[in-house]
Amino acid sequence: MPKILVTRRVIEDGINLLLSKGYDVEINPHNRPLTREELLEKIKDKDAVITQLVDRVDKEFFEAGKNVKIVANYAVGYDNIDLEEATKRGIYITNTPNVLNNATAELAWTLLFSVARKVIVADRFMRTGQYKGWDPLLFLGKEITGKTLGVIGMGRIGFTFAKMSKGFNMRVLYYDLYRNETAEKEIPAEFVDLDTLLKESDFISIHVPLTSQTRHLISEKELKLMKKSAILINTSRGPVVDEKALVKALKEGWIYGAGLDVYEREPEFEPELSQLENVVMLPHIGSATEEARRGMSILCAENIIDFFEGRIPRTLVNKEVLNKR
Ligand code: GLV
Ligand code: GLV
Repeated sequence: MPKILVTRRVIEDGINLLLSKGYDVEINPHNRPLTREELLEKIKDKDAVITQLVDRVDKEFFEAGKNVKIVANYAVGYDNIDLEEATKRGIYITNTPNVLNNATAELAWTLLFSVARKVIVADRFMRTGQYKGWDPLLFLGKEITGKTLGVIGMGRIGFTFAKMSKGFNMRVLYYDLYRNETAEKEIPAEFVDLDTLLKESDFISIHVPLTSQTRHLISEKELKLMKKSAILINTSRGPVVDEKALVKALKEGWIYGAGLDVYEREPEFEPELSQLENVVMLPHIGSATEEARRGMSILCAENIIDFFEGRIPRTLVNKEVLNKR
C-alpha cells in the first residue's frame, strides 16, 4: 500500500479518503511546519507527499525522497516547487485549482472594502474607547459602486473576483498574458495593457501566479502610474509586488491604500507597513474557508488516488511528465 506523508495537519476529509483506500498515512504531529531536516527524513520511505506552500520541493527534496512519485501541493500556487526538476525525474505534481476561487475572490473583496471604508482603523477606534459620538466627518472613505476595477490576471480567481463586481455596476479592465474571451463576454471586461490598467483603475486587484515574469510586476514605476486615489489589493503572492516600493507609495501618498494577504518574505514583512493606517494586513488566509480547505483536502487525496489507481491525476500541473512514462 502506498505510503503518504502529509506535511501539516489539514481538514480530515481528504485524509479519510486516503485511509478508506487502505493507504499508510503519516501526518506531521506538530502544530508547526516540519523543519527541513524532519521533512527530508520523513520522505525517505514515502511514495507520495501532500505539501504546503512553505515546503520547498526541489532537487534536494527529490534526492531525499527517492520513492516519491507524486507531490500533491495543498495550494493552487506552486511556486514552491521546481517543476522542471520534477518533470525531469518523472514525478507528478498536482495543485488545488477552482475549489478556492470563491474563498480567495471573497477575501480580495473583503480587503477592498476594508481599505475603502477604513474598517480596521475604525474598529480599533471603538475598542480603544475613542468614540465620543456621531461625527459627520468621521472615517470618510470611498464608494466602490460605479468605479473602475482593474484585474491583473484574469484566470480562475481573477474571473471569479471580477464577476462579483456585477452588483456594483463597475467598469472592469483586465490585463493578462492571455485574452479571456469568457470574461470579455460575461462580465464584460475590457482587455488593456498594464499601463492603461494602472492609470485608469480606481481599484486594482492582483491574481497572477508568481513566476520569473511576475516577480516585482508592481514596483516603483507601476505604483507611480496609479491614481493617487487608487487602492491596490494583493491576494496572490507577495513577491509580485515590490514591498519596499509599496511602503514608499503608501507613506508618500502615491496611492490611497493597500490591502495585503501576502508578503515578500513570509512570515516577515516590511516593518513600516504595520505603522501605516492606509494598509490592511492579513496573514495569508485567502483560501481559509471551511469550504475551500475541505475542497483542497479532498482534491489532494483524489489526485493521489488517481495516480495509484492508474489514472491521470485530475489536476496534474506538469502534464509533460506523461511523456516520460
Ligand atoms: C494559497 O496561497 C494557494 O496558492 O492556494
Ligand atoms: C488560480 O487558480 C487562477 O487561475 O487564478
